[in-house]
Amino acid sequence: MSEASSQADHADLVSDIIAAHQDQPGALLPILHALQDAIGYVPGDTLPIIASGLNLSRAEVHGVVTFYHYFRSSPPGRHTIQICRAEACQAMGSRALEEHARRSLNVDFHQTTGDGEITLLPVYCLGNCACSPSVRVADRVFSHVDAERFDEIVKQLGNTAVEVK
Ligand code: FES
Repeated sequence: MSEASSQADHADLVSDIIAAHQDQPGALLPILHALQDAIGYVPGDTLPIIASGLNLSRAEVHGVVTFYHYFRSSPPGRHTIQICRAEACQAMGSRALEEHARRSLNVDFHQTTGDGEITLLPVYCLGNCACSPSVRVADRVFSHVDAERFDEIVKQLGNTAVEVK
């Protein structure tokens, strides 16, 4: 798909999303969530369209998108790995796991590996505290994850064609 047709697709999509939400109070956040749910990120070329649709300034929309780390400005990797940073997991060694993940993938949180395969994200409690440290990939939560187990998970991801969001 060319960049021009991709931008046209974004314009159509975001216009539909705006139309579905613009009458509700505080429509900006639901629109941003719907857009990221649909394509995995909030493209910069959609911000003026959203601003116009909601009668906001571009700066206001940009400010909200950048305030919330949840919103991505670039496409995510083919797989997303979330590492729990909440208290129970920290008590069981998740800080060391984070360091290992960053070093082994050569990314920080909210970044994607150079090959576009893996995006690393923080998460705050996966409801799996008794089996911490916890990691989630798609709908699957992994328990008692240490560096070795993390490497196994990454290796498994390299062997699967399933898209993980
Ligand atoms: S604190 Fe990590 S799963 Fe609850």
